[in-house]
Amino acid sequence: MAHDSTGFETDIKPLFREKDRESMLRYFDLWSYDDVSRHADRILARLRHGSMPCDGAWPEAQVNLFQQWTESGKRQ
Ligand code: HEM
Repeated sequence: MAHDSTGFETDIKPLFREKDRESMLRYFDLWSYDDVSRHADRILARLRHGSMPCDGAWPEAQVNLFQQWTESGKRQ
């Protein structure tokens, strides 16, 4: 559930599988708060478009949670 205190460590990082992290390490580290914060716009665009993860789009509610995290100040 999206809520005002949505945070990277508790709510966002667990959404990224080990496979996601390893596949994307050449670009950024999906388990790193700094990296995901820095690239949040591009990450959100791919999640929303459904082209990432490469093996199947996220459910809309999960994309909405990521978006809510970016719009509420990217809490750690
Ligand atoms: C939730 C998980 C993932 C997210 C948020 C994500 C996000 C992104 C983003 C933002 C880019 C563009 C990078 C750039 O141009 O700087 C990208 C590229 C790419 N990702 Fe992912 N990714 C995820 C999982 C995966 C997985 C599981 C694979 C499968 C092996 C994958 C393979 C690729 C490849 C090959 C590219 C480069 C080609 C392209 O731009 O389409 N990613 N990803």
